[in-house]
Amino acid sequence: MPVLNQSDTPLLAAMNNYVADGTVPFHTPGHKQGKGMHPRLESILGRKTLALDLALMAELDDLHEPHGCIKLAQDLAASLYGADHSYFVVNGTTGGIYAMILTIAGPGDKIIVPRNAHRSIIGGIILSGAIPVFIHPETDRELGLAMGVTPLTVEEAIQKHPDAKGVVIINPTYYGVATDLKQIVDIVHKHGMAVVVDEAHGPHLKFNDALPMQALDAGADICAQSTHKIVGAMTQCSMVHCRADRISVPRLKAMLQLVQSTSPNYILLASLDVARMQLATEGNELVQRAVELAGWVRDEINAIPGLYCFGREKIGNPGVHSLDPTKITVTVKGLGLKGAEAERILREHYKVQVELSDMYNILFLITFGDGEKEARVLVDALRDMALKYGGKNDFSLMDDVYSQVTYPDMPEQVLSPRQALFGQTRTVPFTEAAGKICAEIITFYPPGIPLLCPGERISEDVIEYCRRLQDAGLHISGPEDYLLKTVKVVE
Ligand SMILES: Cc1ncc(COP(=O)(O)O)c(C=O)c1O
Repeated sequence: MPVLNQSDTPLLAAMNNYVADGTVPFHTPGHKQGKGMHPRLESILGRKTLALDLALMAELDDLHEPHGCIKLAQDLAASLYGADHSYFVVNGTTGGIYAMILTIAGPGDKIIVPRNAHRSIIGGIILSGAIPVFIHPETDRELGLAMGVTPLTVEEAIQKHPDAKGVVIINPTYYGVATDLKQIVDIVHKHGMAVVVDEAHGPHLKFNDALPMQALDAGADICAQSTHKIVGAMTQCSMVHCRADRISVPRLKAMLQLVQSTSPNYILLASLDVARMQLATEGNELVQRAVELAGWVRDEINAIPGLYCFGREKIGNPGVHSLDPTKITVTVKGLGLKGAEAERILREHYKVQVELSDMYNILFLITFGDGEKEARVLVDALRDMALKYGGKNDFSLMDDVYSQVTYPDMPEQVLSPRQALFGQTRTVPFTEAAGKICAEIITFYPPGIPLLCPGERISEDVIEYCRRLQDAGLHISGPEDYLLKTVKVVE
């Protein structure tokens, strides 16, 4: 096998060679380099791109049994990130997380997970049949956001559940908050368990010292990163990186096969190859540019009356060890606006689209795809929005609701999420559901931490708590009946 360096893109090179060769394709995909595709799509994508929409064959290697150009491309990624092995994933970090959880836990195995886990983690738990041991992240009342879980919380969970197979950590959160991962890894490893990291929002961490430490550098065993979210790969493209000492690499490979297509899109795969090359050759410079731009944006926003963009002053608070400054979370409650209202105003009046909004906040991602021009558009739009739309409501009510009611105890877990999901279910009025076993996830924003997960017993306290949050107008996510008049329960 040839020795390559980080400026090479072995997969893209093999694809280009195949096309340049002029071979007549009697293989999938059926559009045959665009010739069989309807012009409405073909004219957008272009024949040059469509010619690269290729299928697995000897010189293009096989994602599931790589030994040629895909292996070379993955090995370059492993060497860049400092992994023993890296794998390309074409169904997002969602697919990567499924595979990671299936690698460390099977039916009946315990796994320690943050309660604010992304739905892909719950999905992995359902697929594996594992039993989640939920741990609470810290919350920031001012922002209405979940932060990280503390090392102490992890340690306590391990003491109570020494038979757990591993611990899942989110590094960093969607809002860029990172916990003390290094300390957590040391604690978890001391107890002989594996650390699995949802690093969907961290494929760039390696490339700038101002950013939180990436999972592999903290000693984590496996992580999945959404290369498509923050750096240069196409949507759906992620990577899974692992260290080989605590997890079974053959099992990880088998699980990645289980959750991925046998016909992965080669253009997507090539975009991972090129994104890796770009990071290796220019990553430090590019990420530094994004960090500086985000710093300017944050300062400008904080000078606008009524807006607040949190930053380094939060470091040291519970669950906040470090921050990714390229995540711009703007708290709009000082304007008397809800996050969703601010999102709508920005879109309709300023043609600015946020990444997400929640009760109090709107989130913007600054990446090295942005420049000064975009940054100015954002700051100008926020300044104008603050002038024109601010000061209409009083949102102190939202702060009050959480201080007025006591957070209910963690619900009793009666069935695994998998048993609840595949059990016989029926729909009952929510107010009459006390004592029954929930078959869905019920989450309120803020702070986005589920109050009920599938398999958990619904208590009077939870019903009352939900009612209070609903009365305060907080947004519900998860249940089929989004008004929560009814709930799905296990028969
Ligand atoms: C924290 C977190 N984990 C995992 C995912 C899933 O990533 P992907 O969209 O790449 O499947 C997301 C997606 O938003 C996320 O925010």
